[in-house]
Amino acid sequence: MQHTSLQQKLREDYRAVAEQYRSDDEAEILTDNHWRLAGVLKSICRSFERPITVLDAGCGTGRYFHCLENVARLVGMDLSPEMLAAARNPVRRTAVSVEEIQLLQGSIYVASFPPESYDFIYSMGMFGYGAPVTAELCRKFYDWLRPGGTLFFDAVDVDGLSRPRRLRFRAKQAAYPLLPRCLQRVLKRRQNGSRFFGLSHKELGRIMEKTPFSNLSIESHPCESPLWNGRHLECLAVKRALKPAHV
Ligand SMILES: C[S@@+](CC[C@H](N)C(=O)[O-])C[C@H]1O[C@@H](n2cnc3c(N)ncnc32)[C@H](O)[C@@H]1O
Repeated sequence: MQHTSLQQKLREDYRAVAEQYRSDDEAEILTDNHWRLAGVLKSICRSFERPITVLDAGCGTGRYFHCLENVARLVGMDLSPEMLAAARNPVRRTAVSVEEIQLLQGSIYVASFPPESYDFIYSMGMFGYGAPVTAELCRKFYDWLRPGGTLFFDAVDVDGLSRPRRLRFRAKQAAYPLLPRCLQRVLKRRQNGSRFFGLSHKELGRIMEKTPFSNLSIESHPCESPLWNGRHLECLAVKRALKPAHV
């Protein structure tokens, strides 16, 4: 997959909207969906019963930083320097309890961290427009997690799109491989950062089957807010803990 031009376009798009996105955080945190997700993030943090190290992939303006508990170190990675600048002053800043936050600019697809760096990796709102869920990326997440670590992410559920949009998306998907290469290139250039990578429940399941994760759960949830309406698939996956040595 050609990521470079896609990411350049995404970076430009987020440069234009970073300021607005940060003020939208204030509206977004009033929604039921935000508080439901806050509960999921908190309960994952609590499940470790010790201070943990966390990666927020595509952290944007840091909308979810205030939802974390018992975190000794949080790494927030994002493509957009402007979104990261806003993340220095995240929403509900006074409620953020993380001891140390490091913000890194770059693409998660080419990022590298030492194996077993994190207890918990999450990504909210990144997969869908411009960023595809791939087995390759999920295998990287797996390597970066410690045994017993948890991955949680959401992705746009195509079954939550209106019928005409869904049919258009599926028709494009089916027609694309049949087009001559030169036409495929033109289309790719045109769509660029706005390229849509929605998935169905089945498709996400098939991607995750290609990874070593165990205890996999995928759920579809409605997402209603003043800013976006649709459905998100939420994927929770665990890296098997090491077996205790026999005594
Ligand atoms: C819709 S925003 C969500 C931000 C935040 N997670 C939230 O829920 O508010 C998507 C974010 O993902 C970032 N992003 C997109 N592709 C990325 C990539 N390949 N690597 C890192 N960040 C990426 C964008 O720059 C943007 O800040």
